[in-house]
Amino acid sequence: MILEVSSVTKAFGGLVAINDLDLAINEGEVVGLIGPNGSGKTTSFNLISGFIKPDRGEIIFNGKDITGFKPHRICQYGIARTFQLTKPFAGLTALQNVMIGMMYGEGKIRSVAKAKMECEKILEFVGLARRGQAPVTSFGTVDRKKLEIARALATRPRLLLLDEMMSGLTATEMEEAVRLVKAIGDSGITIIVVEHVMKAILDISSRLIVLNYGEKIAEGEPREVVRNEQVIEAYLGE
Ligand SMILES: Nc1ncnc2c1ncn2[C@@H]1O[C@H](COP(=O)(O)OP(=O)(O)OP(=O)(O)O)[C@@H](O)[C@H]1O
Ligand SMILES: [Mg+2]
Repeated sequence: MILEVSSVTKAFGGLVAINDLDLAINEGEVVGLIGPNGSGKTTSFNLISGFIKPDRGEIIFNGKDITGFKPHRICQYGIARTFQLTKPFAGLTALQNVMIGMMYGEGKIRSVAKAKMECEKILEFVGLARRGQAPVTSFGTVDRKKLEIARALATRPRLLLLDEMMSGLTATEMEEAVRLVKAIGDSGITIIVVEHVMKAILDISSRLIVLNYGEKIAEGEPREVVRNEQVIEAYLGE
């Protein structure tokens, strides 16, 4: 098991955003994390990646207790995440943004030339070949999403958390994004994907976990899970 979240709870004031959550993720899996708006998906990512600390419970990554660790340390251990709202460094080129990702992951870059080459390869892999020198302010939605993934990949993660990378994409762009996520999975990186687009999530995931009001209400084989009555009710109640 690469990630084990045990009995994690997080409240914001009176609102319990995550309630006694258990997650077990195997190495190499691509897991879809779904649930209605406000069900706690992004909060789960924030907890796993160290952006917020749990009130209770523990998070074990790769056999190591990382509960309460700072984001940069968790990133160095091998967990990368993308943000629902992308926020690249506006004054920099795409390549410079990806190189910052690499520095964040490794702490240091030994050879700038080598790092640059590797980041260019990552840009090509996500579909941004030859866009490296472009200022990120010139990037539209789809390119910003690709850049966000490139930045995360540059940290050399073993576990990648993708938060709604499909929102705002056209059908064709979405197909491309699905192919990209599959290619990342094929490269051996374990992935948890948060996504509202059901077709995409069913295409990508080998397993689904469903949250509702901060609690896990179902998990298992994707096509079975989406037929689960409790899951349908949670979505209809939205
Ligand atoms: N920093 C915060 N302070 C206060 N409340 C928060 C904070 N972050 C999240 N919440 C609340 O916690 C609950 C879960 O939010 P979260 O963003 O995790 O949901 P989500 O499943 O990602 O939703 P969406 O599908 O809309 O992105 C919501 O009620 C939200 O308002
Ligand atoms: Mg969210």
